[in-house]
Amino acid sequence: VHGRAYTDTDIFEEEMAKIFHRGWVYVGHAGEIPNPGDFRLTKIGRQSVIMVRDDDSQVQLFMNRCSHRANAVCQTERGNKTAFRCAYHGWTFRRNGELASVPYQDGYGASFRKEDFGLRKVPRMDLYRGFVFGSLSPAGITLDEHLGKAKEQIDLFVDQSPEGELEVRSGIHKYGYKANWKFQLENAMDGYHPNFVHQAFLRSIQKRTGIKVDTFSGDSIGLTRDFGNGNVMLDYRPNNAANREKMMAVLPTTAGGKAYEEALIARYGQERAEEILIAGGTHLLVFPNLILIGVQIRVVQPLSVDQTEVFLYPTLLKGVPQEMNIKRLRGHESFYGPAGSGAPDDLEMFERNQVGLS
Ligand code: FES
Ligand code: FE
Repeated sequence: VHGRAYTDTDIFEEEMAKIFHRGWVYVGHAGEIPNPGDFRLTKIGRQSVIMVRDDDSQVQLFMNRCSHRANAVCQTERGNKTAFRCAYHGWTFRRNGELASVPYQDGYGASFRKEDFGLRKVPRMDLYRGFVFGSLSPAGITLDEHLGKAKEQIDLFVDQSPEGELEVRSGIHKYGYKANWKFQLENAMDGYHPNFVHQAFLRSIQKRTGIKVDTFSGDSIGLTRDFGNGNVMLDYRPNNAANREKMMAVLPTTAGGKAYEEALIARYGQERAEEILIAGGTHLLVFPNLILIGVQIRVVQPLSVDQTEVFLYPTLLKGVPQEMNIKRLRGHESFYGPAGSGAPDDLEMFERNQVGLS
């Protein structure tokens, strides 16, 4: 790969135009907006968009742009609104995007029709298992085609819940770094680096538990899998299959573990339940901006050729003992928090990469 792919602003502009402003981009999870009027302000590439649940409980995606003079109608990252009222001249839009009222409407004359001035919808929107995607292009492959084999991994991730549903209401852990967005994508699917970048973390586990964690050494049977369309998986399943019995023996000894296992078996049957327990915490990249790792939804937002923002959403499972969800959150924090023992080291690598390539 030529180094310019990470440093050239023209290439970055082309990525925005051809990838982020044309293809399918992950915008948010329906679990972030469970009730009518719940909204989330987010982005597709450079475009500001509002994801909102309307009065019929449908998820809607709108451009954050008043149909009068293009003011951004929403300024808050999240919340609940009965309507979106533009601050400039007071045009007010319903939660389904319809224009509800215009101050001094008579001034526009008889030809003015409110029906013609609703909020502009994102041209295409589709959901898979609660994951909401948008495309700024009215034409192109379907979301189903874009996801392809990645759907099986999303299923595993969501089916960790005995109710088949995620809760995404534990806040967002945000970080930024001064380097290209693609470093985060590559790193998340890179099985080569952990023994080096995360050496301190792996050693501390060994010290505490006596178990040598080394799923990444040269003779590891794990592998990186190409699903097409840019979608990638770091596949530990061969390792996990080799440790199946050990993994299944540990679960019932953890708080809430026995009840959780029983709930999964009741819902999915023994075989699928075991598959979920062993492989549910997947390691998946859905190109270009969604990563699922363990318990977390990770969203990558390029800002410029050498500036990136990343949002991590630790998820909870519906229908599991509370101890299980607490364990998910504590585990997430220990590796990914600002004082976590893993993620900050990766970010340092991205910035050193950018220095080298520049
Ligand atoms: Fe929104 Fe005028 S720009 S009401
Ligand atoms: Fe890492």
